Amino acid sequence: MKKTDIDWPKITKIVQDYNSDPECLLMIMQDISDIYNYVPPEVIPVLVEKLGVSESLIYSVATFYKTISLEPRGKYIINVCTGTACHVRGAEKITNALAEELGIEEGQTTADGMFTLDAVRCVGACASGPVAMVNHDTHGALNRSSALEMLDQYRK
Ligand code: FES
Repeated sequence: MKKTDIDWPKITKIVQDYNSDPECLLMIMQDISDIYNYVPPEVIPVLVEKLGVSESLIYSVATFYKTISLEPRGKYIINVCTGTACHVRGAEKITNALAEELGIEEGQTTADGMFTLDAVRCVGACASGPVAMVNHDTHGALNRSSALEMLDQYRK
């Protein structure tokens, strides 16, 4: 996967918008993730310097919060719900169909950087299970073929 081009003025603005407040580390990392789908490693020393936080705190936040990653992730992050309602309605089949189609396993990203396949706990749309989120979009009542059609929507 190619190296990320960092928009440094944008990173500086995000930090400034939170007044370089170390208490806002999570929100800052989330905003950076919203741009790149991960927190690029080059940004970490800047956060350490500007916020006065430790590098280990940044790693802890990234480990604890599933929405934040320090590894490059796809342009589209597919989170298949593995909550109970979706599980009993066949979430595993959806994950398997997507994994097979994309040639990756759960937690991995396609070589072209388009898709990351992941799992998530209940997203609160149980009646529409099985459900998958693609970035901020919710797709419900999935079966094998509609899950593959869902991919096609994002491939266009
Ligand atoms: S269990 Fe999947 S949305 Fe609730």
